[in-house]
Amino acid sequence: ELNKMNIAIVGTGYVGLVTGTCFAETGVDVTCVDVNADKIANLQKGIIPIYEPGLEDMVLRNVKAGRLHFTTSLESCLDNVDIVFSAVGTPPDEDGSADLRYVLEVARTIGANMKKYTLVVTKSTVPVGTARKVKAAIREELEKRGESIDFDVASNPEFLKEGNAIDDFMSPDRVVVGVESERAKKLMTKLYKPFMLVNFRVIFMDIPSAEMTKYAANSMLATRISFMNDIANLCELVGADVNMVRDGIGSDSRIGRKFLYPGCGYGGSCFPKDVKALIKTAEQNGYSMQVLKAVEDVNENQKGILFEKLVKVFNGDLKGKTVALWGLAFKPGTDDMREAPALVLIEKLKQSGCNVRAYDPAAMDESRRRIGESVYYAHDMYDAALDADALILVTEWKEFRLPTWGVIKKAMKQPVVLDGRNIYDGDELQEMGFVYHCIGR
Ligand code: UDX
Repeated sequence: ELNKMNIAIVGTGYVGLVTGTCFAETGVDVTCVDVNADKIANLQKGIIPIYEPGLEDMVLRNVKAGRLHFTTSLESCLDNVDIVFSAVGTPPDEDGSADLRYVLEVARTIGANMKKYTLVVTKSTVPVGTARKVKAAIREELEKRGESIDFDVASNPEFLKEGNAIDDFMSPDRVVVGVESERAKKLMTKLYKPFMLVNFRVIFMDIPSAEMTKYAANSMLATRISFMNDIANLCELVGADVNMVRDGIGSDSRIGRKFLYPGCGYGGSCFPKDVKALIKTAEQNGYSMQVLKAVEDVNENQKGILFEKLVKVFNGDLKGKTVALWGLAFKPGTDDMREAPALVLIEKLKQSGCNVRAYDPAAMDESRRRIGESVYYAHDMYDAALDADALILVTEWKEFRLPTWGVIKKAMKQPVVLDGRNIYDGDELQEMGFVYHCIGR
């Protein structure tokens, strides 16, 4: 209790960097480790590799206070730390299961270099049973050295949302920790104590349950979205309005209002990957996750829905049409384009001979990196609409919510608006002479 807590976080991606910075904010001494030397050099200079509201300020403040350090060498910080968090990537294998290469590499490095008791916590989303493999890897390395240093493993899945990561981390709904020793439980309790001033709980459980909780949570959320997209598509066919239906069912406290928004499909680094991985885990255990398979199918289909609507509007004749896209990131508040619905749409538009004029408040560089110069990158949302035959809202950034429609209508060749997130007033647009289509109404 007398000593300052010392921790290391391996992997300075989204989760790692936010986790490290937020722990530093509570007074803990944090070393963030990454194999990417450029990334670390940049972080040391205060250059942040991702766009996340509030993160840059918090990094700079904690670096200045001497509590937040960056290094490429995990070995060199092992002497001092009580806890090592592993927040490295677990990209999907070709078959959909999570690739544990990096997670186990970190475990081996720890086993090969640790000098004193260390708690090794997995924060990356990993399949049930991974902690067991991490433990075995560390033990194996220790045996090679002929050492019998005590250590523990734990699982502490992260539930933060991109774009709201700092708030989510600093005041979480709950913290889930899987442990198998009192010593590990004590350390984790101490580390999370500063957060307990706010109204939330640390839920301790066994390790497999903690590992499972993350997948179950993300799969449930993805299920809600696919379910609502299914309902929305049926609403269109029977003449119902999904907005009304959402309001109607969301008022039932057992259902709740959140995460019931239909759209053009879920994307991002978590939902698609985690749903796939859980289906795979089930298969490996001789079980079939039937609901989740349908969740995936519905989402694939939904990513194509805006294109289908466009085809209908122009009676299949898309060649040479100019299409304006508002929003490229998989959701507002981020520059992340992983599994973004916009990517599927752009591909289909290009294949049908359309010219694409795209604008996103944050993801323009990321888009250039991914799809190059085959689309025109507009200066702003109005420039994107210039001479367009149709305008498609893909990501509901706040700045797209209240356009000056008069200006847009003058700029466009044809006044066609497809609203992929149901954020506009269709009656108002139709009164102004726009052709307007949205999801589920
Ligand atoms: C998600 C989880 O929310 C988080 O707990 C977990 O740790 C990581 O995965 P994130 O991927 O950052 O976070 O995004 P989130 O805000 O949850 O949105 C995911 C996707 O669902 C987005 O594409 C979003 O547009 C879509 N979505 C969300 C809907 O289509 N409808 C909704 O009602 C809510």
